[in-house]
Amino acid sequence: MSVNPTSAEIAEKAATKTVSETVEPQGARAFEPPAQEPAPPRLFEEVLLAVDNVSLRFGGVTALAEVSFDIRKGEIRAIIGPNGAGKTSMLNCINGFYHPSEGKITFRGEARRKMRPYEAASGGIARTFQNVALFKGMSTLDNIMAGRSLKMKANLFWQMLRFGPAMREEVEHRRVVEDIIDFLQIQAIRKTPVGKLPYGLQKRVELGRALAMEPDLLLLDEPMAGMNLEEKEDMSRFILDVNNHFGTTIALIEHDMGVVMDLSDRVVVLDYGRKIADGTPHEVKRDQKVIDAYLGVPH
Ligand SMILES: Nc1ncnc2c1ncn2[C@@H]1O[C@H](COP(=O)(O)OP(=O)(O)O)[C@@H](O)[C@H]1O
Ligand SMILES: [Mg+2]
Repeated sequence: MSVNPTSAEIAEKAATKTVSETVEPQGARAFEPPAQEPAPPRLFEEVLLAVDNVSLRFGGVTALAEVSFDIRKGEIRAIIGPNGAGKTSMLNCINGFYHPSEGKITFRGEARRKMRPYEAASGGIARTFQNVALFKGMSTLDNIMAGRSLKMKANLFWQMLRFGPAMREEVEHRRVVEDIIDFLQIQAIRKTPVGKLPYGLQKRVELGRALAMEPDLLLLDEPMAGMNLEEKEDMSRFILDVNNHFGTTIALIEHDMGVVMDLSDRVVVLDYGRKIADGTPHEVKRDQKVIDAYLGVPH
């Protein structure tokens, strides 16, 4: 393969990724030798987002301390570490919820010290939350449609008249939303208020709402927390499919090391707000600092 793989080559390699058994970080099984050699790493060269020496403080609490890493276009980048390590704070800095106390974040070559959440969203960054954040009384369809609102150009005047350009725009938005509903296989619950859905499906709807923004960078904060094995496998496949079919770059916070190993191209490890490791899943899993801080002692 050439140094710069074509998108077809990338897709082919990505297709070799499979979802295997999931393993919790504290479990001894996490340290069993892999049954086979890991697939060769996918190559990504173009930096989509760069975090440069970012620190974030809340009063006396240092949530992030001088963290630097990058996210390359097309990759699945995992962010792992113990509770309180600063993972969610990192995502909050990336999408403009928080502004770093120091350092800068560069997205598509443009450095931003203060980005507002709506600027991040309209600029192509979408996210899901550690605790599902949906409109519980609204249907699946309407929640995903709400994710589309940033893409809606027609102003209120045209919306009220509801003909001509506004009507055409609405038809187009509906088509995109229906495609997402098909993709995530949630046709059966399209009219159901999301508050009535089991947790795993709520997480899937939330993914749908983020996808409705057609993001270039998708930030997923523990998308599989609280899920059973089957739900985790489903969600893992959807994440891989989003990455493969739409080429969406993904940053993923996840505790399940089995999922991290299966899904991610590279992993950044945080501990007490500091970056302690950065590399392929196999590299970080063997890193003594990561074992000491997060994975636990092999036994
Ligand atoms: N809004 C906030 N105000 C004060 N402290 C915060 C706030 N958000 C996060 N923190 C603190 O920052 C640290 C990192 O938290 P967080 O980013 O949520 O970690 P993680 O997602 O890795 O569990 C914790 O000590 C947490 O208490
Ligand atoms: Mg968190």
